[in-house]
Amino acid sequence: GHVLVLAGGLSYEREVSLRSGRRVSEVLRAAGVSVEARDIDASLVPRVLADPPSAVFVTLHGGAGEDGAIRSVLELLSVPYVGARSEACRVAFDKPTAKTVVRSAGVRTPESVTLPKETFHDLGASAVLARIVERLGLPLFVKPSRGGSALGASIVRTAEELPSAMVGCFAYGDTALIERCVEGVEVAVSVVDLGEGPVALPPVEIVPDDGVYDYAARYTAGRTEFFAPARLSPEVAAACAEMAVTAHAALGLRDISRTDLIVDGDGLPHFLEVNVAPGMTETSLFPMAVEAADHDLGSLCRSLLEQAAA
Ligand code: DAL
Ligand code: MG
Repeated sequence: GHVLVLAGGLSYEREVSLRSGRRVSEVLRAAGVSVEARDIDASLVPRVLADPPSAVFVTLHGGAGEDGAIRSVLELLSVPYVGARSEACRVAFDKPTAKTVVRSAGVRTPESVTLPKETFHDLGASAVLARIVERLGLPLFVKPSRGGSALGASIVRTAEELPSAMVGCFAYGDTALIERCVEGVEVAVSVVDLGEGPVALPPVEIVPDDGVYDYAARYTAGRTEFFAPARLSPEVAAACAEMAVTAHAALGLRDISRTDLIVDGDGLPHFLEVNVAPGMTETSLFPMAVEAADHDLGSLCRSLLEQAAA
């Protein structure tokens, strides 16, 4: 039999997904797995039906890859796959909804306002924005409520910067999440469940060269310095790990996830978001955490596929 690696798709993160897919395919082949790698198109369903894979590794980022759409199709085809089920993805991929869910599980997450584009324009943009600054203060972080790789996301330090941040955000999605911006250390905690419950891998600390972890800083080698494990005290590292595991469980995720958070000046972590299809590129955080844990990415992906197929 063979496994299927799905990558590409038509989201804004298509290029990232192709890189993730290439990496996962390579490490799986190196681990002795027979791999078919495919993009998403009309031939997918007939091909899967004609020659069903033992399991699918979904390295699709953004849109249909992470919002549950493609995963519901796999469920419809009764093909097992690695990662969260479609219904959990629908909740987790929507950042405001995910924040509400994890907050009910006791997870600290920055105060925020969610604003659909139409409301924003119907109510008069400037009046609404003034109220948001009054309510949340500055700086703010603006991002599409359903997105990834920092596309359409920006930090707002003065009220004057807010309108253009909103325009940039709406270029990538119909709803904006405007969060109080917590300043501190950016940390990503990957979670893996190999059948014995979710376990956090070592936290990875992110230090972008120019202070902003944007798309270029994410995917250009050398633009960001990473510390794996993060330079955190054991207590703070444990609090980060606990937050990621709690978020994974509260959102009903499966197999793998990556929680992104900020550790403030007092050592308190603040949940930003969880990724159901964490990036697997050469500069991505999940593979770094796997390496920091002294695991082999290929063996781990193979085990996850075997677990899905079992
Ligand atoms: N959305 C990108 C792929 C990530 O979170 O790694
Ligand atoms: Mg993300």
